[in-house]
Amino acid sequence: MDKYVYSFGRGRAEGSSLMRNLLGGKGCELAEMTNLGIPVPPGLTITTQAWAQYSRGDRRWPDGLWDQVIEALTKLEGDSGLTFGDPQRPLLVSVRSGARVSMPGMMETVLNLGLNDKTVEGLAARTRNDRFAWDCYRRFITMFGNVVLGIRREVFDEHLDAIKRRLGARTDPEVPADELRKLTAAYKELVLARTGAPFPQDPREQLRLAINAVFDSWFAKKAVEYRRIHNIPADWGTAVTVMAMVFGNLGETSGTGVGFTRDPRTGEHRFYAEFLVNAQGEDVVAGIRTPERIEALRDRMPDIYAELLAIADRLERHYKDMQDIEFTVQEAKLYLLQTRSGARGRARGRRSGEGARARHPHRAHARAAPDAQRAAAPGVRRAGEGGGARRRTSARYGFAGGARCGGRAGRVRRRPGRRMGQVGPARDPRPTRDLTGGRGRHVRRAGHRHRAGRAHLSRGGRRRRHGQALCRWGQRRRGRRGAAGLRGARPCAWPSIW
Ligand SMILES: Nc1ncnc2c1ncn2[C@@H]1O[C@H](COP(=O)(O)OP(=O)(O)OP(=O)(O)O)[C@@H](O)[C@H]1O
Ligand SMILES: [Mg+2]
Repeated sequence: MDKYVYSFGRGRAEGSSLMRNLLGGKGCELAEMTNLGIPVPPGLTITTQAWAQYSRGDRRWPDGLWDQVIEALTKLEGDSGLTFGDPQRPLLVSVRSGARVSMPGMMETVLNLGLNDKTVEGLAARTRNDRFAWDCYRRFITMFGNVVLGIRREVFDEHLDAIKRRLGARTDPEVPADELRKLTAAYKELVLARTGAPFPQDPREQLRLAINAVFDSWFAKKAVEYRRIHNIPADWGTAVTVMAMVFGNLGETSGTGVGFTRDPRTGEHRFYAEFLVNAQGEDVVAGIRTPERIEALRDRMPDIYAELLAIADRLERHYKDMQDIEFTVQEAKLYLLQTRSGARGRARGRRSGEGARARHPHRAHARAAPDAQRAAAPGVRRAGEGGGARRRTSARYGFAGGARCGGRAGRVRRRPGRRMGQVGPARDPRPTRDLTGGRGRHVRRAGHRHRAGRAHLSRGGRRRRHGQALCRWGQRRRGRRGAAGLRGARPCAWPSIW
């Protein structure tokens, strides 16, 4: 029988970087990091081959897949010392998508899976933190409701916003445990009303449904559009990674962050990241809260900061490329949750230059003049050069591009000297994702600076629709659609995302 599931955890993984096509970028690099001895929560990855069988077989799981998942889950329970569905010591997992090439934010993820009315009490008792447990449960119902049951996220958020208004709370962490408990009950009623069925309480059923939803997210409209723009074959499919949750929302010694192993704008060797204390990963990528600069972590937890720097350095030397990482600190313990190569354009030039001096193996590349390297990196153009889609001052996250610039997903006229953001509900990552490779946090950062999001809805006296592009700077589009439209756009300078 085919092997569809590969485990990783406790310093050993069945996969590696070499298995990218089978395990997807996320799955293979988590396996690689595990083998390198970097702290990664244990987990399992379902292969793209399983996805292929599933999509060819009319959404039926291939024979043996469920058994293999359960077997790997049992190993995961052993590695984490927790049990899936156990009311006393519940194991919670995330269910994450991961294609063989990075498609940032285009597919789905469900966090905190495994919670139900019983396990939430167990989690509260074990952590002695009621607020934390109910916060996880309301997050889980929101994400599961949205990704798996297809209920719009805003519907859930309206309830939370109403509570915050009533309490006069400005941020989510200010909402106390008993309100979150009531909120969760309201969410469950909402699910019942919308779907006609109660919120699934069996963790295995939750897992099966979430894996299906992640498989299906390969066919989501935005993923299809992204593939079209980037010429990614539709039959590659996605792997699914199920991994033990680590919690950045466990208090003041916990938090979550994202960043680059060096400055993506200049290539300077300086850890370049942002961190959010007492938060889960989605808060950062979705722009729900404003992250702090990474120096906040250095001041609060110098040891963790030093460990993170050492890991960043190790990853860069291992991959010989700048890395884009996600990490979480749970009660002063650091975990890496993702790494992917992030260097292109200028950053790569600098990186390679340093590499040459340090006698790294990729010296040949370093000898090329920065301009030659830039020419070799498609889509990277300097301000003033004609025909560039966008100037990539950050390594990968050209900001002002995007299908929305191309006009397919929403058009807006742009005048020179205008910067671009997108109108979207502040807490929903999806409308703020840039289909050409930018992602929520950067769009959000830009939006923050220029008051995008809800506050932007009537900017300049003009009403704007959610998801509509805003451009306040830099570009005139020559009217072609999608990727072609991008090529026709003028370059624009994006001086800094901070
Ligand atoms: N097991 C986990 N424990 C804690 N946080 C997690 C876990 N799995 C994922 N996360 C966090 O949840 C967020 C979303 O996860 P994920 O990386 O799967 O999707 P994404 O970052 O939105 O998109 P992509 O990585 O595919 O571009 C990230 O911040 C990630 O670090
Ligand atoms: Mg990610």
